[in-house]
Amino acid sequence: MSALPNAKTVLTGVKPTGAPHIGNYIGAIRPALRLAAEHGRSYLFIADYHALNAVHDPKILREDSYQVAACWLALGLNPEKTVLYRQSDIPEIPELVTLLCAVTPKGLMDRSHAYKAAVDKNKAEGRDADADVNMGLYTYPLLMAADILIAQTDIVPVGKDQVQHIEFTRDMAGYFNNTFKNVFKLPNYQLESGVAGALLPGVDGRKMSKSYGNHIPVFIDSAARRKLVMKIVTDSKRPEEAKNPDENIIFQLYSHFATPEETMAMREAFTKGGMGYGDAKQKLYDVLEREFEGPTKIYNDYMANKKKLDDILDAGAARARKIARETLSKAREAVGLNGLPGVHAAAGEGQLQRKA
Ligand code: TRP
Repeated sequence: MSALPNAKTVLTGVKPTGAPHIGNYIGAIRPALRLAAEHGRSYLFIADYHALNAVHDPKILREDSYQVAACWLALGLNPEKTVLYRQSDIPEIPELVTLLCAVTPKGLMDRSHAYKAAVDKNKAEGRDADADVNMGLYTYPLLMAADILIAQTDIVPVGKDQVQHIEFTRDMAGYFNNTFKNVFKLPNYQLESGVAGALLPGVDGRKMSKSYGNHIPVFIDSAARRKLVMKIVTDSKRPEEAKNPDENIIFQLYSHFATPEETMAMREAFTKGGMGYGDAKQKLYDVLEREFEGPTKIYNDYMANKKKLDDILDAGAARARKIARETLSKAREAVGLNGLPGVHAAAGEGQLQRKA
C-alpha cells in the first residue's frame, strides 16, 4: 500500500484530440495532475477506443495518442507513480463491456446526453434520427463504465459534461453487483474544481477554444508564444490611466500562472494607474515562458523519440492489466464463467464486499 494518507484510486481517461491549449491545462490537466499526486493509486489512460468512434484516419489516431502521452509526461506526470497506458492495450476492457451489456438496459444508452445531442441535431437538420451515429457513439457509456470499473476506481475527476457518464457507471456497477455479487466498487466523480477551462478567455476575449482560433497552445516555441500574447485585444487606455483588472484579459490570464504576490502587484498597478498594456503583456509572456518553456522542450523530445513513449506505455499497460485481469476474472466467475488463467481470487475479496 501507499505511504500517502489518501489510499484511494483516482482514474482519468483522456481522448486524444490534438495538442492542448493553456485553457485545457488550467481547467483539466493541472487539476488532474494534482489529484494524481495526492492519491495512493492513480491511473491515466489514452482513450483511443473512444477516439476511434470519430477518427477514421489511422495515422492521426496513432499520432494523437502519442501526443497525449507526451503532453502529460511533459507537464509533470510521474509514470513511476501514475500508471499511464493506452486503453487499447487492455483487452480486458472490451471484454468487460460484454459482461456489462448483459445487465444494462438499452434505455440507459438511449438517455445518454451525447447520443441524444446527436439525435436532436439530426432531427433539427431534417435528417434521419440516427444518421452518422455509430454503435461506438451509442455504447460510449458502456465502454467508459468498463474503463472505470475494471480498475476498482474510487474517484474520477471530470468536467460537468461527464457527470452523467459516472452516474451511469454507478448504475451499471449496481445492476451487476445486485444481479450476481459484489464485484465492482461504485466510483464517485470529483468536479474539476480550479478554474473551469471554459472561463479562461482567449486572445480575443471570448472563451478560449480551438474552434474560435483564439487559443494559446501549451507547446509552442517562445517566438510564437510571444506573438500570440501580443495579439491580445485591449482597449485604448493609456499606461498612466487606472484600469479595472477584472475586465482585463491580460490580467485574467496572468493570474492563473503568476504567484499570489505577482498577481497582487499587477492588480494594484492596474487599479492605481501606471501599468500599460504592453508592460502587462510582457509580464504575462514571462510567466507563460516560465511555466511552459521546459515542458515544451520535453514534449518535443518525446515526440521525436516515440520509442521512449512506447516503453513507458508498455510498462504502464503491464501494470494496468494486473488489476484489470483480477477484476475481470472475478466478474467472469460471478456470472458463471471460468476465471482467467493464472488469476487467483485476490486477497481483496473481503474488501470488495463493502459498499463504496
Ligand atoms: N469521456 C471522457 C471525455 O470525453 C474520456 C474518458 C473515457 C474518460 N473513459 C474515461 C474519463 C474514464 C474518465 C474516466 O473526456
